[in-house]
Amino acid sequence: MSTKRKSKSPEAQVFKPDKKFAKTTRISSMAQYKRMWKESIDSPSKFWAREAKDLTWQKKWSKVLDWKAPFAEWFVGGKINVCENCVDRHADGPRKNKAAIIFEGEPGDRTVLTYAQLKREVCKFANVLEANGVKSKDRVIIYMPMIPEAAIAMLACARIGAVHSVIFGGFAVDAIVDRLEDSGATTVITADGGWRRGKVVPLKDNVDAALEKYKGVKKVIVAKRTGQDVTMKRGRDLWWNEECAKVPGTHKAKAFDSEHPLFILYTSGSTGKPKGILHTSAGYLMGTYISCKYIFDMKDDDVYWCTADVGWITGHSYIVYGPMANGVTQVMYEGAPNQPDFSRFWRICEDLGVTIFYTAPTAIRAFIRAGEEFIKPYDLSSIRLLGSVGEPINPDVWLWYREHIGGGKAPIVDTWWQTETGSILISPLPGCTPTIPGTATLPFFGVDAAIVDETGEECKPDESGRLVLRKPWPSMLRTIYNDKPRYKKTYWGDFKGLYTAGDGARRDKQGNFWITGRMDDVLNVSGHRLGTAEIEGALVAHEAVAEAAVIGRPDDLKGQAVVAFVSLKGGKTGDDALLKELRNHVGKLIGAIAKPDDLHFTPALPKTRSGKIMRRLLKELVATGNVTGNTTTLEDPTVIDNLKRILGR
Ligand code: PRX
Repeated sequence: MSTKRKSKSPEAQVFKPDKKFAKTTRISSMAQYKRMWKESIDSPSKFWAREAKDLTWQKKWSKVLDWKAPFAEWFVGGKINVCENCVDRHADGPRKNKAAIIFEGEPGDRTVLTYAQLKREVCKFANVLEANGVKSKDRVIIYMPMIPEAAIAMLACARIGAVHSVIFGGFAVDAIVDRLEDSGATTVITADGGWRRGKVVPLKDNVDAALEKYKGVKKVIVAKRTGQDVTMKRGRDLWWNEECAKVPGTHKAKAFDSEHPLFILYTSGSTGKPKGILHTSAGYLMGTYISCKYIFDMKDDDVYWCTADVGWITGHSYIVYGPMANGVTQVMYEGAPNQPDFSRFWRICEDLGVTIFYTAPTAIRAFIRAGEEFIKPYDLSSIRLLGSVGEPINPDVWLWYREHIGGGKAPIVDTWWQTETGSILISPLPGCTPTIPGTATLPFFGVDAAIVDETGEECKPDESGRLVLRKPWPSMLRTIYNDKPRYKKTYWGDFKGLYTAGDGARRDKQGNFWITGRMDDVLNVSGHRLGTAEIEGALVAHEAVAEAAVIGRPDDLKGQAVVAFVSLKGGKTGDDALLKELRNHVGKLIGAIAKPDDLHFTPALPKTRSGKIMRRLLKELVATGNVTGNTTTLEDPTVIDNLKRILGR
């Protein structure tokens, strides 16, 4: 990549916080950060009791934490309405006429919703849901484009205590069916379609196809976005606008227990079945609220933009719940960053005066590759803070981001967290933490992170190991939906009392965390999590395929690329037509993001004598062209030479 610099090693490049920035921010010295962090660890009840005062409670909690490992309850005895915290308290106060969402559609249409307007729309939709029989704890699937209605639907569910489960609009029919079945959803909220790179994504058609297979849905509510013809099934399918026209724009926000389920979000694990990560109300709201307050330093005059999609956790926590709980003005954009070209984001930033910008390294790498001519014409001087999320950020990319988007001055917060953690757990605080390109730096309040070896012993500084968390935190997942044993085993089963994140990392002598990536069979492709087992399952579901093994390889743009090894039934050899068909087949079952970048046909896969596929060997072969590790357990050692030939090594 053209950004490579011959300068000193990145770890030598420490960026001290900007003095001007520190003057206006909430935490302006390391001493203050350390004091607050220590209090959050040593006296969590005191720390969280103080911070929780920022939220609006319908009944104050009696106990901050009840921890029966590995099950936590936070703010026990409290009653709260998450939607009221994100909407009503702003709409009913001085932020009434402040823009909550400035929406730009991919075709260029713009809508502004003030907090008062947002409240009216959310109340209407809450009434629509109730009028259509949705009750507290019912599961509601949301499969929508990035339009304000997606946020409105989520907030309306929260308002009435229904549990939403958002499915990323890029997921295909079978992925919808899996999630419908696992959640037992009774209602689906979707749109006719969404715009992506000038084309319509046929969301309603996909829902119709999914509902051929899953029969438990009683109502489908459809927002109009793209305007193409869709089939509306009588008695089941309803238009969003027609339903909203029938109900009042007021709705009383009921009080729910702190631990009332808020949403399920499915994410990939190391088996073929996605995990339904369950988050609950008060603790999740606390975590997303407080991280926006201190890490994004959100203030009333900010214009904040997180470029994620609401279908992922980043969209949940840092488009909907965290920013709105802080009453900030935010930008929401429907489409692709390169539509019509790579200047789209920067035109929006200049035009709307974006002050805080949060995106993923994969997007930054795409901008670097596209070239500076798409950025140069735009005035980005309003940007005062940059964020990065989803994957390790290469130091070169970090430096480019600061220079070209941050004007050489905006601090970067490299934020480490996961669907399971609910909110950011490791990150610099922009007014006080010295940053170094490539490290997410230090733990946030209430976070007791450590690096341990395979026996669970803490590693020495600079030694690589596994990232674990030693204490519960408010926005932690509460369980895997309908699967407590899997929750216990996956996250708390490796070492007693430790949450295993699944990431490899090391901590330097200053205490900074350097995250190196997943240690399990989970890939991180363009900042999105994909399970190798899920892709293998999709490949094997094709009639021609006998076996498949999927691994990741480093990729300049996407972080990781998907590499599949496939052996065919009857020992057949594959051709280009079948290769294309298999890629499309994966796209059809899971979604375009899961399509293998490379697909190799092979007569056999490397296996142990007990039949386990040795992915480790495949990874090494693809990365280095050779296998150096132990191969004595291989059932058939000739497989390796064969594979080398196939890979052209
Ligand atoms: O491997 C880590 C990586 O993304 C994983 C979590 O993925 P997901 O649940 O989809 O959530 C993505 C958005 C939070 C982690 O286990 N990851 C996330 N942020 C970073 C990161 N890796 C390195 N640095 C980060 N800042």
